Amino acid sequence: MSHAPTRPLIAPSLLAADFAYLADEAAAVERAGADWLHLDIMDGHFVPNITFGPLVVKALRRHTSLPLDAHLMIAPADPYIAAFAEAGADHISVHPESGPHLHRTLQLIRSLGKKSGVVLNPATPIEAVAHVLDITDIIMVMTVNPGFGGQAFLASQLEKIAALRRLIDAAGHNIIIQVDGGITPKTAPAVLAAGATCLIAGTAVYGAPDYAAAITALRPALPQAPQLAAGGG
Ligand code: DX5
Ligand code: ZN
Repeated sequence: MSHAPTRPLIAPSLLAADFAYLADEAAAVERAGADWLHLDIMDGHFVPNITFGPLVVKALRRHTSLPLDAHLMIAPADPYIAAFAEAGADHISVHPESGPHLHRTLQLIRSLGKKSGVVLNPATPIEAVAHVLDITDIIMVMTVNPGFGGQAFLASQLEKIAALRRLIDAAGHNIIIQVDGGITPKTAPAVLAAGATCLIAGTAVYGAPDYAAAITALRPALPQAPQLAAGGG
């Protein structure tokens, strides 16, 4: 509750970019002030959509120095984790439902020198991560059902974000809470107030005419600078 939203990390999701110009689109959000680049990996099996795999991640790696934040919506995930690590993903996040041994999967990601993440679908309770906090760097709360950009934000997940914040703080772990789906300047403040520290935004950034302005609009307004005394000098 006392978690003060300071400067959240902003991770534009390339899913909403122009796929014919991926390198340019990655570089553009880097120039615009993004912190991470979010990569949605979909297999048409775990989720009803298909995007891209390690080859595209590897190609992108040469065009941006942003941390590459890979969100794996594939099942099984384990056989492909080394390939995403080798391709240059810096963070690799998986859904608990994508395999039988979440703990082992997180161990594998960490063993490859990458940050490990767990993604909670709207119906997945926070208990899914309660016993893996010690090997988790990032927990992503989905505020839409995974598979598509441009969906409406599920306000039902705000209480889950707050409960997750309490769980992490009580356990004393330094875990980033990411929120993914329907993030806009309207929904971001409640998400940050609930305790998130990283916002993923596809449509709200790549669908905007000015990426830098769109990223700034997701961050809390800075306190007003003190007014200079009028006159004098
Ligand atoms: C959905 C993806 C999201 C998606 C968000 O499965 O995980 O990252 O790009 O898109 P917006 O921000 O448009 O809801
Ligand atoms: Zn995502």
